[in-house]
Amino acid sequence: MAAAGGVPNQEEKYMYSEKVMDHFQNPRNVGEIENPSGVGTVGNAKCGDIMRIYLDIDDNGIIRDCKFKTFGCGAAVATSSMATELVKGKSIQEAMEVTNKAVMEALDGLPPVKVHCSLLAEEAIHAALWDYAEKNHIKITGLTKPKSDIHEGEEAEQEEY
Ligand code: FES
Repeated sequence: MAAAGGVPNQEEKYMYSEKVMDHFQNPRNVGEIENPSGVGTVGNAKCGDIMRIYLDIDDNGIIRDCKFKTFGCGAAVATSSMATELVKGKSIQEAMEVTNKAVMEALDGLPPVKVHCSLLAEEAIHAALWDYAEKNHIKITGLTKPKSDIHEGEEAEQEEY
């Protein structure tokens, strides 16, 4: 029910679409890929959620397989699940178009407070593609070094102990 003046009430503010609920309860492509072509780990410093995406890319630059591991909220799980579905079978350039907006649209939207979760999915794909590009000494048009790839930081942190 909409509150007066079209302002969403508390309930609507946190309401999830059926697709979000489905991908949260039955996430697709959970797991890891052994010897991946690229892997990217990103995190959100504010909520502490972490997402890792593995890519298996064939010699023609087509994403054969994609898996994820997410330590985070329900929306982060749902967006990772949808993001992996969207990039599977795509070329690298097509995968670059799987933005957080595209993931959100495919999920029929997210509550405003959960938009950052979909951003994590976009960043994780980019981080995995960056890793692939570095390993293969190639440049991917439009791809910049991921800011929040925490992979190295994580290892550095562990070494301190
Ligand atoms: Fe941070 Fe969802 S609350 S990723």
